[in-house]
Amino acid sequence: MLAVTRSLLPSLLAIVAAPGVWSIACPVPATPSPSSFAATAFDYIVIGGGTAGTALSARLAENPSAVVGVIEAGILHLNDPILDVPGHLASSGVGNKTYDWDFVSTPQVNAGGRNLSLSRGKLLGGSSGINGLAWDRASATEYDAWATIAGDKNWSWSGLLPFLQKAENFSKTPADPFPGISPAEAAEVEADLPHVDGFSGPIVASLNSLYFDTVTNVTVTLNNLGIQTNAEPQGGNTTGVSNIRLSLDHTQGVRSYAATAYYCSHASKPNYHVLTGAQATKIIFSKTRYGLTATRVQFISDGQQYTAHASKEIVLSAGTIQTPQLLELSGIGNSTILKSKNITPLIDLPGVGESFQEHFFAAAQWQLRPGVQTFGILRNNATFAAEQQAQYAADHTGLLAATDSLTAFLTLQDIVSQDRLQELLSIFDQEASAPGLSGLQQQQYALQREWFAQGNVPAVELILWSKGLINVEQGESYAVILGGLMHPVSRGSTHIASCDPLASPAIDPKYLSQNFDTEVLLDVLKFLQKLGQSAPFSDLVTVQTNPDPTAQTDDELLAYIRASSAGGDHLVGTAALAPQASGGVVDGSLKVYGTTNLRIVDASVFPIQIGAHSQATVYAIAEKVKFCLLKTM
Ligand SMILES: Cc1cc2nc3c(=O)[nH]c(=O)nc-3n(C[C@H](O)[C@H](O)[C@H](O)COP(=O)(O)OP(=O)(O)OC[C@H]3O[C@@H](n4cnc5c(N)ncnc54)[C@H](O)[C@@H]3O)c2cc1C
Ligand SMILES: *[C@@H]1O[C@H](CO)[C@@H](O)[C@H](O)[C@H]1NC(C)=O
Ligand SMILES: *[C@@H]1O[C@H](CO)[C@@H](O)[C@H](O)[C@H]1NC(C)=O
Ligand SMILES: *[C@@H]1O[C@H](CO)[C@@H](O)[C@H](O)[C@H]1NC(C)=O
Ligand SMILES: *[C@@H]1O[C@H](CO)[C@@H](O)[C@H](O)[C@H]1NC(C)=O
Ligand SMILES: *[C@@H]1O[C@H](CO)[C@@H](O)[C@H](O)[C@H]1NC(C)=O
Ligand SMILES: *[C@@H]1O[C@H](CO)[C@@H](O)[C@H](O)[C@H]1NC(C)=O
Ligand SMILES: *[C@@H]1O[C@H](CO)[C@@H](O)[C@H](O)[C@H]1NC(C)=O
Ligand SMILES: *[C@@H]1O[C@H](CO)[C@@H](O)[C@H](O)[C@H]1NC(C)=O
Repeated sequence: MLAVTRSLLPSLLAIVAAPGVWSIACPVPATPSPSSFAATAFDYIVIGGGTAGTALSARLAENPSAVVGVIEAGILHLNDPILDVPGHLASSGVGNKTYDWDFVSTPQVNAGGRNLSLSRGKLLGGSSGINGLAWDRASATEYDAWATIAGDKNWSWSGLLPFLQKAENFSKTPADPFPGISPAEAAEVEADLPHVDGFSGPIVASLNSLYFDTVTNVTVTLNNLGIQTNAEPQGGNTTGVSNIRLSLDHTQGVRSYAATAYYCSHASKPNYHVLTGAQATKIIFSKTRYGLTATRVQFISDGQQYTAHASKEIVLSAGTIQTPQLLELSGIGNSTILKSKNITPLIDLPGVGESFQEHFFAAAQWQLRPGVQTFGILRNNATFAAEQQAQYAADHTGLLAATDSLTAFLTLQDIVSQDRLQELLSIFDQEASAPGLSGLQQQQYALQREWFAQGNVPAVELILWSKGLINVEQGESYAVILGGLMHPVSRGSTHIASCDPLASPAIDPKYLSQNFDTEVLLDVLKFLQKLGQSAPFSDLVTVQTNPDPTAQTDDELLAYIRASSAGGDHLVGTAALAPQASGGVVDGSLKVYGTTNLRIVDASVFPIQIGAHSQATVYAIAEKVKFCLLKTM
């Protein structure tokens, strides 16, 4: 979810649970030294021990005869409350350079000229260690679009479902019933679970353990506005209000993520070598008649340069920003860009760093009637917070073991009239037929056009936060609803800004660069305002604090959107799985075009953005690569 909690952190950190209250079993071996790592004869080297890289490398190491190395820039943070404790502390690693690369975009001309923050986890486990715990999947139609773009039927809903399940251990909690689900529907879902969920994977997914009145009231209000509760959002249709699952192990009340779930259970394997605190700077190839073969990785640790060797494959899992950065540093990308940075092009692959797609959210905030309980009570009432801390220490329950989980995935038809829909579609048609689009972009737009017109795939997500974000006053409680674009038309890019491997690339998401996106976000904000004025949610509200209720005209609301909207932390697509001729970077086996053995396994391969939070899909990609493509046992 969003990275906008920064201003609240100090007061919340004061009530963080003491370490030792929970304990994650992790038999960490002696860390290899950089020089012993460089001297090891690896079969596989994975660059980036993040979400995908940790999952894939741990799976590869299950074959005892495969020697697997991982190079991760961050370190392992074990039993650290900043990462582990969900109760609205879980996102406190965001913006803190101990855990976050904390990238900054180039000025976003259509978003008030701001340089927007782009969080990326810098730790073993990567972004899965600092994310908002939302655990969900896109709709079947969206994954089927992946197969269409990839030209490979395995990258479809039915091809990915077994791997979405393989990563997951859905562990039901005795939670309250969620509003809007009838007993009959609940029974149907119960019967379906074995076909939809995974029950033996490493990541523990669970339902939230408590729902404030804000949650029940907003759900019923949405139901009243014609948006049904979706009892089974995991089953291939995501439309409707849902109680999203969380990557949260309720037995200890802690985050479940790539480091604790995949690394710790494999850490003691003698063939698994994880080097932390080391940043890869270049991949080196030898030329063969079949293409370039990746053989070595240069990395820097403590200011010293080393080179590690792999005999079979090198896997790039550095994430949506740094995967294209390393490709470019290594001579793979748009030759014009590489030459301008004094890098000798080895493979001219202009899709590298392009097709950058990201969700973009506007937020509305309301102050609530006195006495309406939200997470704000942890900030407002020190006695209550101390009680919660004691409860968490005693049995891992209460507010510190919970977070927000109400989301709603909406079609355009859910929020605008038929006339307005036609108007939006004609704006779309104009922008989607601009000259100079890549084949990939044309194909993406054709799919999006169908989804918007048919309303079979959500275009918008709403997320309820039972806490305040903006100008929060001591003693008051708030609700925030974020409303964002799931399938923007805008496409951004990320490219190296210099040949210095330690410098940040130039990241330009081009937020709101297309009018369709801006117009839809305006409709979303109007829908949020209407929500705040509709019962029973309105019964809880004293005043809408943001946008300022005096902002009424489209121009005033647009000014608010440009000044305050933010990315959703779901960056994807910069090394797309698509045919080379249309602008793709990797083929159906996720190999980089022109290479014999360099694979990309992370969120950068998404062929088109999904209307879902990205982590579960990223784990599924890693699982699929291990079990379908890189069969080592
Ligand atoms: C603040 C935030 C909130 C989010 N909220 C949610 C949510 O609630 N639900 C959800 O599903 N998704 C969420 N996401 C998105 C999701 O977490 C990511 O899409 C996913 O984790 C990305 O996985 P990845 O493997 O592609 O990259 P990452 O997990 O980011 O891994 C990349 C790894 O590579 C390392 N690395 C990079 N460059 C180098 C180098 N040169 N040398 C060595 N190592 C390197 C990094 O340190 C990192 O560990 C959120 C993300 C963020 C940042
Ligand atoms: C960042 O994290 C470090 C390590 O946990 C902590 O000491 C520090 O207080 C954090 N900084 C902020 C601003 O929260
Ligand atoms: C904003 O981005 C521009 C271009 O990337 C950069 O020159 C400028 O320093 C950035 N500003 C801040 C405050 O980061
Ligand atoms: C497609 O998936 C099947 C079953 O998961 C697998 O056996 C096969 O190797 C895959 N084919 C390709 C081309 O990836
Ligand atoms: C799934 O997670 C629960 C909760 O942590 C745990 O009790 C159970 O053993 C796990 N199941 C598997 C197969 O790992
Ligand atoms: C809405 O909130 C009120 C006040 O907190 C509560 O009494 C009521 O039960 C809630 N309504 C629903 C439908 O949950
Ligand atoms: C390569 O980059 C240059 C410079 O940014 C750009 O003009 C050109 O269009 C790009 N080539 C392709 C095929 O995208
Ligand atoms: C603060 O919390 C305590 C303990 O739960 C409670 O007794 C007290 O009434 C609360 N104070 C206020 C002002 O709500
Ligand atoms: C998804 O479910 C909703 C009801 O929750 C229904 O209205 C809609 O038609 C379904 N969409 C698809 C594509 O099946």
